[in-house]
Amino acid sequence: MANQPFGGTAVPSLNPQTTPAWQALERLAGHYAHQFDLRQAFTTEPKRFQQHSVRAPHMLVDLSKNLWDEPVVEQLLALAMQMDLPERRSQLLNGEIVNHTEQQAAVHSALRLSFTCGRAPASAAMAQNCADLSAMLAMAETIRADATVHDVVHIGIGGSSLGPELALQALRPYWRTQQRIHVVSNLDGHDLAETLAQCHPAHTLFIAASKSWSTFETLQNLRSASGWLQQSGINPADRVVAITAKPNAAQAAGLKHILRMPADLGGRYSLWSAVGLPVAVAIGEAGFKDLLAGAAAMDDHFAQAPLAANAPVLLGLLDVWYSSFLRMPSRCVVPYHHRLRRLPAYLQQLDMESNGKTVRQNGSAVEYATAMALWGEAGTNGQHAFFQWLHQGAQRTPVEFVAASQAEHALPGHHTPLLANAIAQAQALMLGSKSGPGQLPGHQDFSGNRPSTFLLLDGPLSPPALGALLALYEHRTFVSGVVWGINSFDQWGVELGKMLAKDILQRASGGHWQGLDASTAGLLSAACVTSEAHS
Ligand code: F6P
Repeated sequence: MANQPFGGTAVPSLNPQTTPAWQALERLAGHYAHQFDLRQAFTTEPKRFQQHSVRAPHMLVDLSKNLWDEPVVEQLLALAMQMDLPERRSQLLNGEIVNHTEQQAAVHSALRLSFTCGRAPASAAMAQNCADLSAMLAMAETIRADATVHDVVHIGIGGSSLGPELALQALRPYWRTQQRIHVVSNLDGHDLAETLAQCHPAHTLFIAASKSWSTFETLQNLRSASGWLQQSGINPADRVVAITAKPNAAQAAGLKHILRMPADLGGRYSLWSAVGLPVAVAIGEAGFKDLLAGAAAMDDHFAQAPLAANAPVLLGLLDVWYSSFLRMPSRCVVPYHHRLRRLPAYLQQLDMESNGKTVRQNGSAVEYATAMALWGEAGTNGQHAFFQWLHQGAQRTPVEFVAASQAEHALPGHHTPLLANAIAQAQALMLGSKSGPGQLPGHQDFSGNRPSTFLLLDGPLSPPALGALLALYEHRTFVSGVVWGINSFDQWGVELGKMLAKDILQRASGGHWQGLDASTAGLLSAACVTSEAHS
């Protein structure tokens, strides 16, 4: 229910704790935290796998090895209804205002639905967004056709780099260019320097993506890249494509190739906009449209599937259950696909920047746990690092396995064992085992009853499958945000650190640390002495 006007727009102000479903879930939580046994659940519910797994575009989502069953799912679905999820979902998909602190829509789904499904743009602004996306695809084709461009260096950070970086790696077999494409994000100059060392100024094109055109890291990397071009007598304006929601600022910086991204498209949802340029250069217009189409298919599923069979809804509710009710502090994502090795980093921004908040949309404080920390590493590498902790550590952590049914390499003896490992790990977490004769009691005991979810892509990790996977995660984050009553589309929490970094930078160059706390002053003094000694 939206009942408070705020800047002319209704702000959702419900506290989920006041809903009957939340209270019912609180009553259920103790049992599922302490007594519920997955092994027993599979014995008493012969159809548990069928009942707790859903099909979504391009994938099977197996939720059956989680610490829940019908009574919990029923109450979680009731909670979604009591928090007005269907209405909030329509607002999102129709491009209405959902980000109330910034009085903005979050147009990622509306944009791809209009662009790929021929859905009539709901407004002149959306028609412009579609035109901007077409301009990006045309620019990508121009870059691909330019024989003088051997290297494309994409500069951006956070949402302006994580999506492109993930998609470039994930879709390597679908690249249709010989051009090399690099992503540089870090302020640490080692990142850019290592990339420039592989490139030649006469054959390098830079893409600078910054929605705000004010992010220090990106602007500093762009300044350094421009200097590198200038040293070879090249005008950066000829070799830099800017992508931004502030085209005037890019123009004021002397740039002339400028692609616009919508101001009401969150940075972490921007892969689907002009920020996808390096991906479109790599996989071509048709490939990029396939990526969008996969995401739009998931948008449709999210919009239309009944809540009880709706993959993003169930996953978002599962996150609420584990975090707010079973008090699990983190969740682990393990992609059993080498090309998805950056997925945990991508999801960290998507989920933790979106829902790492303790204030509701109307400004009131939350009194329950919201987003869990998210971490992970590609399997099977992770098995030889932190799986010991997952199997025998003191805390239970929900694990998410992500795998593709088909591989896209020709090496025998890899893919089936890879899938076998993923499935076996999920099985081991659930079943556990007791040490037998000749084994070490305790040391070789596995408690089991540890939850996991399995996302299995139907075929290979293709552009539409990746699109669907990422849209699934986007909507899942939205669902849990709605249930927690928080705004998933702002990120005020990153501002303080940015502001203090400016102050410290000024102090470092001026050499004055008066008024700082002792630790900050001590570190600054030590860092300045060390960096002077090496300069
Ligand atoms: O620091 C957080 C953030 O604002 C992200 O939300 C965003 O994706 C990133 O910085 C980069 O911002 P921009 O695209 O404006 O440079």
